[in-house]
Amino acid sequence: MKLFLDTANIEEIEEALSWGVISGVTTNPTLVSKEKIPFKELVKKICSIMEGYPVSVEAVSTNSSEMVKEAKELAQVAPNVVVKIPMDKEGLKAVYELSKSPEKVPCNVTLVFSVNQALLAATAGARYVSPFIGRVDDIGWDGVGLVQEIVQTFEIQGLQSEVIAASIRHPRHVHEVAAVGSHIATLPFSVLDNMAMHPLTDRGIEKFQKDWEKVQQENLG
Ligand code: E4P
Repeated sequence: MKLFLDTANIEEIEEALSWGVISGVTTNPTLVSKEKIPFKELVKKICSIMEGYPVSVEAVSTNSSEMVKEAKELAQVAPNVVVKIPMDKEGLKAVYELSKSPEKVPCNVTLVFSVNQALLAATAGARYVSPFIGRVDDIGWDGVGLVQEIVQTFEIQGLQSEVIAASIRHPRHVHEVAAVGSHIATLPFSVLDNMAMHPLTDRGIEKFQKDWEKVQQENLG
C-alpha cells in the first residue's frame, strides 16, 4: 500500500518526503485554507517538491462544465496535478468528460461514502476513488469495511481505479486499510508521525545510550 500525505503544508511535506515513505499528496479546500500562500503558488510549490508524484488538488465549481474548465486550468499548473472532483452527478459528468478529453486530466473522486458511488466513479473514468473512512466511522458505520468492499468489488469487476483510503484519523486505521488491500492511504502528518513512534523504542534507545556511556567511562569503547 502506498502512503500519501493529506496536507497542504510545505514543512510537513518536506519532512515526510525526507523519511522516504510518501509517494503522493492530497489537499482539499479546508487544508489549503490553513496555509497563508496564494492558492496557485502553493499548488506549484507542492508539485515541485513532489515532482513525479501525484498531487491532488480540489476543483470547487459545482456544475460539470465549470468543473471541467477549472480542472483543465489546474492541470496546467504542473504535470503531476490530479484534480479532485466531488462525488455527485455533476462530478461524474466532469470526470467522464475529462477522461475523454485530449488532455486526459487524471481525477480523484472525493467524498465517496458507498460502494455504489465508488463503482460509478470508477466507471466514469476516475484514476483514484477516495472513500472517507473517518467520517464513515463518525456516523457509526464501518469505514475500514467500506474500503474492503470497494477494493473487492473493483477486483471482481476488473476496474482499474486505485482506492485511496482517506479521512484517516489514527495509526490503527492505516494498518487496517493495508490489511484489507487498499491501494493507497492518505494520512495527516500527525498520524504518520505517530506511526513511527513506540514508547518501548524510546525506552530501548535511552537504555542503550546509558549503557554505552558506561562503556566509554570505563574506557572500553
Ligand atoms: C482526502 O483526500 C481528504 O483530504 C481528507 O482525507 C479528508 O479528511 P477529514 O475527514 O479529516 O477532513
